[in-house]
Amino acid sequence: MDYINSYIEKNLNEKRKAHVYGVVKTAGELAAKYGCDPVKAETAALFHDMFRSTPVDVLNMYVRQLQLDPVLLDNANLAHGPIAAVIMERDYGIHDEDIINAVKYHTTGRAGMSVLEKVIYLADAIEPGRNYPTVDELRKTAAVSLDQACLDSMERSIEYIRERELFLHEDTIKARDYLKKKGEQNGL
Ligand SMILES: [Fe+2]
Ligand SMILES: [Fe+2]
Repeated sequence: MDYINSYIEKNLNEKRKAHVYGVVKTAGELAAKYGCDPVKAETAALFHDMFRSTPVDVLNMYVRQLQLDPVLLDNANLAHGPIAAVIMERDYGIHDEDIINAVKYHTTGRAGMSVLEKVIYLADAIEPGRNYPTVDELRKTAAVSLDQACLDSMERSIEYIRERELFLHEDTIKARDYLKKKGEQNGL
C-alpha cells in the first residue's frame, strides 16, 4: 500500500486527500457493519479517486489507450473510476475482481452491485467531509440499511444530474431500478 499512499500524497490536493482518507474510514466501518472485508474496502477506497485531479485531456488519452467506452471521453466525472480500475491492476498489482469493480463503478453504481461495491459507493457519498443538505439523513439511513441508503443516494444523484442537464450514465438508472426492485421484493 506504500505506493498508492505516496501517489495520493503527490497527486491529490489537500481537499481530495482528506476526502480519500474519509472514504477509507467510512468504507472500513460500513464493511465491518455489512459483512464484507474491511481491508478490501479500505483498499478500494484508497484507489477510487486516484485520477480525480487528473486533467481531462490526460483522462481522454487513457480512455483511448486502454480502449475504454468512448462515452467516458471529455467526462472526468465518469472516466476517473474506470481508468483507476484498470491502472490499479496493471501498475499496482491489485487483482481482486470485487475491489476492481468497486473502484470501476463507484461513480455510477450498476445493477447487481456487490456488498463491497455498495459500501464504496455509499462511503464516497457520506464520508465525514461531505456536506450537502441531505447528507445527515443519508448517514442515518446508512446506519440501518445499505441498500436503502444506496438507493436514496442514487435518487439524489439522478435528480442532481437532471436538474443541471448533465450526462446521466445508463448504469446509474439500472442501479437505481435494481435496488428499487430489490427493496420492493424485500418489503422495504
Ligand atoms: Fe470518484
Ligand atoms: Fe470519491
